[in-house]
Amino acid sequence: MTQAKAKPIVKWAGGKGQLLSQFSNYYPTELRTNKINKYAEPFMGGGAVFFEVMQTYRIQSAYISDVNKDLVLTYWVVQQKPQDLLHKLYEYQKIYENTSVEKRNDLFLLVREEFNQKRFTTQYQTLSDDWIIRAAQLIFLNKTCFNGLFRLNSKGGFNVPFGKYPKPTILDEQNIWAASRILQRTEIQIANYDACFDHITDNTFVYFDPPYRPISKTASFNTYASGGFSEQDQIKLAHFFRKINTEKQAKLMLSNSDPKNENPEDNFFENIFNDFPIYRVSASRAINSNAEKRGAINEIVVTNYQPTPANNLLF
Ligand SMILES: C[S@@+](CC[C@H](N)C(=O)[O-])C[C@H]1O[C@@H](n2cnc3c(N)ncnc32)[C@H](O)[C@@H]1O
Repeated sequence: MTQAKAKPIVKWAGGKGQLLSQFSNYYPTELRTNKINKYAEPFMGGGAVFFEVMQTYRIQSAYISDVNKDLVLTYWVVQQKPQDLLHKLYEYQKIYENTSVEKRNDLFLLVREEFNQKRFTTQYQTLSDDWIIRAAQLIFLNKTCFNGLFRLNSKGGFNVPFGKYPKPTILDEQNIWAASRILQRTEIQIANYDACFDHITDNTFVYFDPPYRPISKTASFNTYASGGFSEQDQIKLAHFFRKINTEKQAKLMLSNSDPKNENPEDNFFENIFNDFPIYRVSASRAINSNAEKRGAINEIVVTNYQPTPANNLLF
């Protein structure tokens, strides 16, 4: 029997699922020729690229991190306690299905309230039964909330309303097992992105997917954690990219929203990454509340190498 391919456990703002096939044209050649054996993704989120790369190429170990403590806690639980997590998810799936449609909003609010209350007392240092409940709650909320996203208010509380989905897949057993297998060879940390430095070897492929620089003044996609990610942070990240490029042989790739979608004169990324190639891939995202303005928009990809598209490779 073939094992199911792992995909992201949670839907996440800025998820790269739609871009995977385009991104693969920009991966380093060394990934395909098996010269790279380590992968790092310091802005993990849902980890669409992580799951894809880990299952497509010969990667022996990985390092992933995020500043969202509950997201990281969930990955730890998937890694170390998949069976216990599945029990809890099974319970949530059953409770949801057995609750009448009219009462499901109350159920959702109850779980959301408990999830928010416990953030003040959760110990993120040591694995405990509380973690398993918390990870199951995060997955439950992600699968049943409106649009399946994780958004925090300024006080750090999860505030997405109920999504009214008739049949959400809260329990996805195959995927939890498949993800757990991949996470066995992965070090997972609650950390700022720059902590990845010590985990990067010369044979590492690092993918940076920071919170987007907001495309327009009204769009704000960077509210994953209460802190946010400012323009100054994008500049600091570019310095960090350059530092790794200078001090290590690692292959680096970074993506972000393309400001030229809105303003062709905006050279923000050309300026901060002036010594690296910048490519554009086309993403179709509902970025604008005005339906006429929705449609294909570009994202930028910055690398510290010249990529060779997969179908141009001659071995
Ligand atoms: C664009 S999302 C990543 C999306 C992900 N690649 C996917 O496919 O779902 C950015 C992530 O970076 C995290 N983040 C924000 N600031 C950070 C920081 N300073 N260091 C590390 N992670 C950070 C956020 O919590 C969020 O999960």
